[in-house]
Amino acid sequence: MTSKEDHYRQLAAQLSSLLAGERDLTANAANFSSLVYHSLPDLNWAGFYFAKDGELVLGPFQGQPACVRIRIGQGVCGAGAAKCETVIVPNVHEFPGHIACDSASQSEIVVPLMKGSQLLGVLDLDSPVSSRFDDQDARGLENLVRILLSSVLSVP
Ligand code: SME
Repeated sequence: MTSKEDHYRQLAAQLSSLLAGERDLTANAANFSSLVYHSLPDLNWAGFYFAKDGELVLGPFQGQPACVRIRIGQGVCGAGAAKCETVIVPNVHEFPGHIACDSASQSEIVVPLMKGSQLLGVLDLDSPVSSRFDDQDARGLENLVRILLSSVLSVP
């Protein structure tokens, strides 16, 4: 059986070839969310919120329609954005201020998108399974986010 670490390694290779040659953030974030949503088990939402005018605005995603604007500091996405750190929530019902976009969601992980010290947005994954995300997911997803950012930010 493939270990979680191996799975993320394979995903990283797939993502790198999927994004190769394209520098548009919306296009690459859209393909990122589709790849992750269809490759990782037990997800009911995978997508992005981008930082605009001091709040988070819905970007490309897969899953049920979601709330469009989130204040920095509000909910799990807003907490990840405020801290500029990955946030893992094993049980969303116990997270103060959690924003329930899909009632199926039980656990969640948010990974910030950083350009140096500037917050560009967050990656958000939801799961219908409690305690779905662990440190290996955090490291694996942070690496995928690095691949996304280097596809759109690096000097050609
Ligand atoms: N649950 C998130 C809101 C976004 S949806 O999950 C897609 C939150 O509390 O920030």
